[in-house]
Amino acid sequence: MKKILKYLAILLLVILVIIQFINRPEQISEPVTENDIIGTLNISPGMSDLLKAACYDCHSNQPRYPWYSEIAPFSWWIGEHIEHGRDELNFSEWATFSKRKRDHKLEEMVEEVEEGHMPLPKYTWMHSDARLSKEQITMLKEWVTSERAKIAAED
Ligand code: HEC
Repeated sequence: MKKILKYLAILLLVILVIIQFINRPEQISEPVTENDIIGTLNISPGMSDLLKAACYDCHSNQPRYPWYSEIAPFSWWIGEHIEHGRDELNFSEWATFSKRKRDHKLEEMVEEVEEGHMPLPKYTWMHSDARLSKEQITMLKEWVTSERAKIAAED
């Protein structure tokens, strides 16, 4: 029995080493451009901290990579979250969105956060600074309401 466990542990180790060479997702880090939501809208420091700490790792071109992001299988999960998250919403490209899209994404932000879907729970489990307090959720809602009013007033 002990021997089997030892072999299994060695096998697991070998597998872990081998998967390090499979499909390494490229890490993204692009400079901030003038299309970024924080620069485009006049965002308060509190709101910009919230977005950067809780959303930018998956919804921007400036994700912060944790040390384990180099190690498979974490590298795969992280790479997939970022790719998928940015496909849905990339705050780095905010200024390029149509009026309709900006309004819709703002609406979705409140919905997703209120329902507890965003930030992804499996992410906040590892990143305590991304867990939103009640006050932060209220701030997000007020900010979204005021931004949507500005969008509605655009011609
Ligand atoms: C760990 C990665 C991760 C973090 C952090 C994260 N998201 Fe997401 N987000 C995703 C992924 C992946 C999707 C697409 C799949 C889904 O909806 O679950 C998504 C989808 C969304 C959508 C849906 C877009 C649409 O039009 O349907 C919104 C809105 C959103 N996120 C807002 C936020 C906000 C706001 C934050 C910060 C408070 C945040 N997300 C943090 C990964 C993340």
